[in-house]
Amino acid sequence: MDVYGLNDALPFVEPALSPGAYDPIAEPLSGSDFLDSLASCLAGGGWASIDAFEFLTPPLVTELAREVTLWHRGDRLRAAGVGRGLTLQQDRSVRCDKVAWLNGQTPPQARLFDRIEDIRQGLNERLFLGLRRFEAHYAIYEPGDFYRRHMDSFAGRASRIVSLVLYLNENWQPEDGGKLQLFNRDLPGSVGATVAPEAGRLVVFMSEEIPHEVLIANRTRYSLACWFRCDDEMPLALND
Ligand code: OGA
Ligand code: MN
Repeated sequence: MDVYGLNDALPFVEPALSPGAYDPIAEPLSGSDFLDSLASCLAGGGWASIDAFEFLTPPLVTELAREVTLWHRGDRLRAAGVGRGLTLQQDRSVRCDKVAWLNGQTPPQARLFDRIEDIRQGLNERLFLGLRRFEAHYAIYEPGDFYRRHMDSFAGRASRIVSLVLYLNENWQPEDGGKLQLFNRDLPGSVGATVAPEAGRLVVFMSEEIPHEVLIANRTRYSLACWFRCDDEMPLALND
């Protein structure tokens, strides 16, 4: 398992272990090692990039990739919005991805939700974040799509606390673009890390602390985003 995020002063971080290098025969890392690494990265620089095949299992990543591809072909994703509630807008100069919210009811989603629940509880035990629930969607960026620099939540709103993105693209190449840039929490003008959206890679960061941006994708880019929240379920119209 490669973990980044302990030293967010690094100008660029490219995970070195390609998911293809996963050895299914090797002893898998226990969930608690994974959660320890994740928690210490979040407590340190506020973000982590982890190749998480051991934690999620390769078949699960493949099944999620297959599902989002089918949903894309079936035209089940819709233009994402910016803002919340009644001010929700579709501003394609800020973001142009398409999303579909997940309910955890297909077999791969049910297995994924179990793992996400492990992460929720594991982070609460280690960092006392008071994460009460999560919400998740698939996202698709078609060639030319991007998401300009933004934060997932703003301090004081006390809603989205931790963001998680799982990438679902095999053999992502440098010329495919679409990297995630995470800005340095304490020096917001400088890039803390640049992460390629390779299948099985998880990026996790503090929603109110880390500005980030999705660079223009040159190839269809599939991912799954999830936010851990510290509030209770709200009526749909008031939700983010
Ligand atoms: C988001 C987001 C990052 C990514 O959906 O809010 O920032 O790499 N996604 O897809
Ligand atoms: Mn974001």
